[in-house]
Amino acid sequence: MTTIEIPRPDDWHLHLRDGDMLAGVLPATAQHFARAVIMPNLVPPVVTRADAEAYRRRILAARPAGSDFEPLMTLYLTEATDAHDVAEAFRAGVAMAVKLYPAGATTNSASGVRQLDKVMDVMETMAEIGMVLCIHGEVTDPEIDIFDRERVFIDTVLAPLRQRLPELKITLEHITTEEGVAYVRAADSNLAATITTHHLMINRNAILAGGIRPHYYCLPVAKREKHRLALRAAATSGDQRFFLGTDSAPHDDRLKESPCGCAGIFSAPNTMSCLAQVFEEEKALDKLAAFASLNGPAWYGLPPNADTITLVRSETPVTFPDKIETAAGAVTVFDPMVPVYWQVR
Ligand code: DOR
Ligand code: ZN
Repeated sequence: MTTIEIPRPDDWHLHLRDGDMLAGVLPATAQHFARAVIMPNLVPPVVTRADAEAYRRRILAARPAGSDFEPLMTLYLTEATDAHDVAEAFRAGVAMAVKLYPAGATTNSASGVRQLDKVMDVMETMAEIGMVLCIHGEVTDPEIDIFDRERVFIDTVLAPLRQRLPELKITLEHITTEEGVAYVRAADSNLAATITTHHLMINRNAILAGGIRPHYYCLPVAKREKHRLALRAAATSGDQRFFLGTDSAPHDDRLKESPCGCAGIFSAPNTMSCLAQVFEEEKALDKLAAFASLNGPAWYGLPPNADTITLVRSETPVTFPDKIETAAGAVTVFDPMVPVYWQVR
């Protein structure tokens, strides 16, 4: 097959930042995607309905001319979040999900949740009104090895939470382990998971073997090869519970190439090319539409996009820019480390 047409995809987990960085990175996403779920981990975070409305306006104002890209806003859950404000934001169509960051788990998560008990009222309200909770599923206990933090989160936090509040719809974000895949597959309802492009393409060797490569460092950190293979099987299975959330997370290169570099991989410009490559390798191009365009809207109760994109396979590998330049600094683009033959026409 040398071309494939799919409904226009959406990105169900995206970091756009703000100001000059927002202006610099938004065109890459808006070029291929119709909608994206926007992560609220700004400094300060997007906590209230008013915060989300204001951030949404800034995103709309930063769209390239002629773009009808639609940001789907989320609220950052804090121990001081007001359940009433969350419900109002949902009913008014201002926010479609709430994001739970365990405090300290990742970039700008300091205002996140330390004790789940303190946000039970918000989560109960969300369960009542049918609002999704998006979860960064890693424990923060320094005693727990960083490669085990997702697995331990599922056993010690997520499973008990789902027992306590089975009516709550949960998106387990950017899963990276075979245990994550198995846990989602075993759930009978109210659980889905996003998978990033990079976790389908790299394992932890990319970060550490032959030199330390900060542009492959993200959270949750990439795991062993067997986990990558489990993620590929899930993503290409067509199972409605798995769909694309790129977690494209731009940082100024100076903050990545540092003695304590930050977590995040910027994949917005070449995500669709990379995904087509993965699905071709898995002999599952017929499942790409499910993963990138259909399963996400079905989970969030939205229609799929009416228009389409076409991906074209070349005879020779396609190239991407190493970096994009923004007024907030240069941002390195994800290098998949393998030849990629697909391009969006
Ligand atoms: O790699 C990551 N980058 N993981 C996250 O959870 C946050 C994100 C960011 O905001 O940079
Ligand atoms: Zn993220």
